[in-house]
Amino acid sequence: MHALKKEKLLFAHYFTIIYLSRSTIAQYFGNKVFTFGSGCKCVDIKTKCSYQSYFSTHKTSFLVYKTHLLIFKNKLDLDRKIFSMDFKIELTEESRLNTVDFSNLVFGKVFSDHMLVADFENGKWNTPQIKPYGKFLVAPSMSALHHAQSIFEGLKVYKNENGDILFFRLEENQKRLNVSAERMCMPAVPKEIFIQGIKKLVEIDKAFIPSGDGLSLYVRPIYFATDEAIGVKASQNYRLIIFTTPTGPFYSEPLKVKIETHYSRSAEGGTGYAKAAGNYGGSFYPTKKAMEEGFQQLIWTDAKENKYVEESGAMNLMFAFDDVLVTPSLSASKLAGITRDSIITLAKSLGIKVEERNISVDEIIEKHEQGKLKEAFGVGTAAVIAPIAIIGYKGQTINLPAIADTNISRIIALELQKIRTGQTADKFGWMEKL
Ligand code: PLP
Ligand code: COI
Repeated sequence: MHALKKEKLLFAHYFTIIYLSRSTIAQYFGNKVFTFGSGCKCVDIKTKCSYQSYFSTHKTSFLVYKTHLLIFKNKLDLDRKIFSMDFKIELTEESRLNTVDFSNLVFGKVFSDHMLVADFENGKWNTPQIKPYGKFLVAPSMSALHHAQSIFEGLKVYKNENGDILFFRLEENQKRLNVSAERMCMPAVPKEIFIQGIKKLVEIDKAFIPSGDGLSLYVRPIYFATDEAIGVKASQNYRLIIFTTPTGPFYSEPLKVKIETHYSRSAEGGTGYAKAAGNYGGSFYPTKKAMEEGFQQLIWTDAKENKYVEESGAMNLMFAFDDVLVTPSLSASKLAGITRDSIITLAKSLGIKVEERNISVDEIIEKHEQGKLKEAFGVGTAAVIAPIAIIGYKGQTINLPAIADTNISRIIALELQKIRTGQTADKFGWMEKL
């Protein structure tokens, strides 16, 4: 039996024993309660983690951590430096890790072991819980099911070659969630619940973060009304759930999209700028109709005149007219994409001219006829950069030039990937290491 130094505390594996000298225990667990005795249970009162602890010899005690997740790396330091919040933590007894085929990841089909659940009840937030990912009971009268007071977010976490865990612009998602919450008449989610909750969750489930080209852990926060009441009014109670899914590319090939001129995703004054669940539900029917015509996605146009393009599916939209990157300016009917903002910033830093303005369907056709329409692509967290190969409009089709390495979208996609995986300097301060 030997004592490990604090910096050598790496992983606790399934029933791996970590040896700690009593002084180390005092140093790390000073604010927590541990009782030692043969076979007695220890509870870390800060995280509510439950450890099995056994007393040993005079100078050395050891802990047996009862999980097969590798969650202990620098855990104690993390507890102290990052997590000022309390979380109630219940770890899974049975990991799903070995059911995940990391060589064949599709978007949003497999889920990591744990989820965070935080309830807003009686006017205040309860202590968030991290518990095994799983189903929960819902009353038929639950408000969100009736009136769609329900919003969500999407963000990605990467692992670099050194195994560091990197969050991409997490705070932007936190801010946007509360922009959506305000629009949907829901209480703001406290920053520390969102940020620290995601970090804690990801730390616990870090074995699910894939590494490799185009691979990441997608984090999905959902936030919805939970009143058991069907009166048409804002709920009093809400639930935030955050879960994660190891993920690969969203689209496997360049898209065939149709410019939609009848149905609208959102209108000025509507909820388009919020990441409101109903915006997506309302888009399925027109998308299905376009799919029946052989398209994969829509390009939405403005609700008033159906004259200006807005977004494509659940992505912002960009074009290269010759060597200028042109994208619809933001408005109340469009979601302010974090990828969009990152691409604009990157493009400008690379000396590419960027225009944010209205783009009419007529202009797209005209640019195509003049041979100036070089690229069209959607941009978003899930899809990152999705090139468009064909645009359909009122029975006509516009074929975009074949994708080349010199394309603006390719150059920027590569640059973004390098920043996200730590292969190039993060001069914009977008990445945050856990
Ligand atoms: N537009 C819509 C409607 C979306 O759902 C998304 C996806 O989140 C985006 C744009 C892109 O936003 P972001 O880049 O922040 O993911
Ligand atoms: C995202 O890109 O994160 C989205 O939320 C789009 C889609 C998966 C709904």
